[in-house]
Amino acid sequence: MLFKTICFRLMHSGGSKHRSVVVRLSSSAAEGAVAPPANCRITAEQAVRLWAQHFTLHGISEPLLSSQYIISHVLGQKTLECVPRKRLRDTLTDREMERVWKLCSKCLTRMPVQYVIEEWDFRDLTLKMKCPVFIPRPETEELVSLVLEDLRLIRWESHRTDLRGLEVGCGSGAISLSLLHSIPQLRVFALDQSQTAVCLTTENANRLGLQDRLDVHHLDVIKDADAILRECDPVDFIVSNPPYLLSQDMKTLQTEILSHISFLEGLKTMPHWTGVWTGCL
Ligand SMILES: C[S@@+](CC[C@H](N)C(=O)[O-])C[C@H]1O[C@@H](n2cnc3c(N)ncnc32)[C@H](O)[C@@H]1O
Repeated sequence: MLFKTICFRLMHSGGSKHRSVVVRLSSSAAEGAVAPPANCRITAEQAVRLWAQHFTLHGISEPLLSSQYIISHVLGQKTLECVPRKRLRDTLTDREMERVWKLCSKCLTRMPVQYVIEEWDFRDLTLKMKCPVFIPRPETEELVSLVLEDLRLIRWESHRTDLRGLEVGCGSGAISLSLLHSIPQLRVFALDQSQTAVCLTTENANRLGLQDRLDVHHLDVIKDADAILRECDPVDFIVSNPPYLLSQDMKTLQTEILSHISFLEGLKTMPHWTGVWTGCL
């Protein structure tokens, strides 16, 4: 493997002093490695900068944020702002450094940071993420807010609390689990054509203690219509964030998305689903 040695000059804790950290960079991202600093001593703060620079060199999207997410995750926090300042200036332990290097190297393979740290926040829930299940988008949080508004109105008008919903294409379970979390009497039947997505939704439901009000099924909404009608009780609403990218837009996608997320496959089977859709029956 070909290495070049680079000396990063990093701001030393507290201000104007600089300290050099020598690292060896591999010549390509595919080789995927940055050797740890020669003296094995680096603070969290320095590691953030070093990896942000390295990500920039390799064209990783949002280099600083990605580096910050990974290092805060290793330090047991969601964001760098949550890490005490002193901790940021302490030298990483061997174990922490090993983890930072391992996770950051995964990022070099263009794996989205959400898969690297294996979790992501959606509204007020922390969900486990697993490649290649779709990573919930911020716009989907808005979709959930809209559905919640509709459901509040329906409950108020119908004087019913025992509503039932169907989610088509549950992915990680973000939509169903957020709705269940917000409305304690709700029950949801969720389905996905991907077995990995079904397992992930089930795992997230168990982690959040919402499994008793959620039925998750490995079904294809096009091919298994009879089974869905048979297994799913009558529902009051259907919600879905289906595959929504048009083929002409796929060329513009980031490598991170194209090579890791399988939701695009749905376009072949759901050509008539062209946008985020939600409806109440
Ligand atoms: C855009 S993702 C949305 C995932 C999740 N609901 C979210 O918002 O994060 C679309 C999901 O639909 C699933 N899907 C695609 N075609 C399907 C089909 N024919 N039947 C059931 N699920 C399907 C995919 O596996 C994927 O998990």
